[in-house]
Amino acid sequence: MSRLVVISNRVAVAKARGAAGAQGGLAGALNAALKENGGIWFGWSGQECDEFSGQVSFQRSGDGVTTATIDLEKHDIDEYYYGYANSTLWPLFHFRIDLTEYEREFGKGYERVNELFAQAAQPLIEEDDIVWVHDYHFMPLGERLRSMGLKNKIGFFLHIPWPPTNLFVSLPYHERLVRSLLHYDLIGFQNDTWLDSFLHYCRKELGAEVDEAAGTITLDGRTSLAKAYPIGIDYDYFTGLGDTGDARQAEQRLISSTRRRTAMIGVDRLDYSKGLPERLDGISRFFDNYPEHTRDLVFIQIAPPSREDIGSYQQIRAVLEQKTGQINGARSEVDLVPVRYVNRGYSQAELYGFYRGSKIGLVTPLRDGMNLVAKEYIAAQDPEDPGVLILSRFAGAAQQMPDALLINPHSPDDIAYNIKLALDMPLEERKARYEKLIGTVRDDNVLVWTENFIADLKARD
Ligand code: G6P
Repeated sequence: MSRLVVISNRVAVAKARGAAGAQGGLAGALNAALKENGGIWFGWSGQECDEFSGQVSFQRSGDGVTTATIDLEKHDIDEYYYGYANSTLWPLFHFRIDLTEYEREFGKGYERVNELFAQAAQPLIEEDDIVWVHDYHFMPLGERLRSMGLKNKIGFFLHIPWPPTNLFVSLPYHERLVRSLLHYDLIGFQNDTWLDSFLHYCRKELGAEVDEAAGTITLDGRTSLAKAYPIGIDYDYFTGLGDTGDARQAEQRLISSTRRRTAMIGVDRLDYSKGLPERLDGISRFFDNYPEHTRDLVFIQIAPPSREDIGSYQQIRAVLEQKTGQINGARSEVDLVPVRYVNRGYSQAELYGFYRGSKIGLVTPLRDGMNLVAKEYIAAQDPEDPGVLILSRFAGAAQQMPDALLINPHSPDDIAYNIKLALDMPLEERKARYEKLIGTVRDDNVLVWTENFIADLKARD
């Protein structure tokens, strides 16, 4: 059986996995794939070094996954991670051209670090290994590995959206980036919308031969397959957390602290793509439009800080503090604070408990590749008395979850109206919606996702 070599910027060993709120969906998903196939997970240690040595540190984690990591120098971290990956690609790919920074040095740093990673990864890769590269940090990596003579099957999965062509072309050297991507045998996207944008770009801007039905792109005599693979959660693992003391205690803590009020929860990395100020505006509008509910609802927003060295992240944090202060200042009573805003992460077991104790899950990103919080919220519900999921139509997850209350996150009135619908929804309708939602969350889980991707990658000629 061929081993799997996973390459991603973040490598999460089992013990760190609990801090899910801060690390996004990628980490949990890859642990599951590596447990299944055996192999190595290679990436950045998250640490800074004075001088890059290329030395790889190996570690065997609690659940039998071997990780291999390298440290990076400060200027590389600044230009590659904070710079090109998270100040250029991240905002642009989330349709935020207004926040996108196009610094030449960032681009150079990105290319340089991709080269460093390719050189450090190459000796770890054996002849029959399957190589699976993840996310926007490493788009040129496959081409670098190929230029070192690697003949293995190499696949790439993008966890974030692919922007429409007319936005994407604002990126200097956009052609170069996509041409390098076309060195992968398989290129995966979260859904058909992002896939279609990518195919459109390849056809219109590169003049590539695109076979829509087959999903193949041929350029310069090389053919790649591009396809949608919607990511899911590790369903058995996550639902299993329901039996833990941590989950039960978290649920009890939440229920007893909110007393007879309905708890509504949001869990997001503190990121401008998550629509958090717009969400708070929607909640404020709810209290304006339905004053009779002032004492019925408590909103809990868990938002662990993220990428704090970047100005746009500092700004969004300041905006949220101000908005939370305004809502609470205007509407609190001595025994009631309507919004609880928490800047820290919790373990997945605790999150399970918080989701289960909350009768409404509010997931309102302005743009999101998938969004696994929506799926975790559903997975944690009591089938006999399930809560209601309010979900942005601009999250990739909306395509698989049409039985959530789908909203436009830019519209405070739409958010307010749907909170009211959720509060008033009869048990029968809640159960009917839950039954449909849990089906996709359970069946389209992360193991199915990895199996599908790896099977297609192995089948490439
Ligand atoms: C998103 C990205 C991941 C990333 C995660 C956390 O989910 O798709 O690649 O790891 O955010 O962001 P961070 O910058 O902390 O790794």
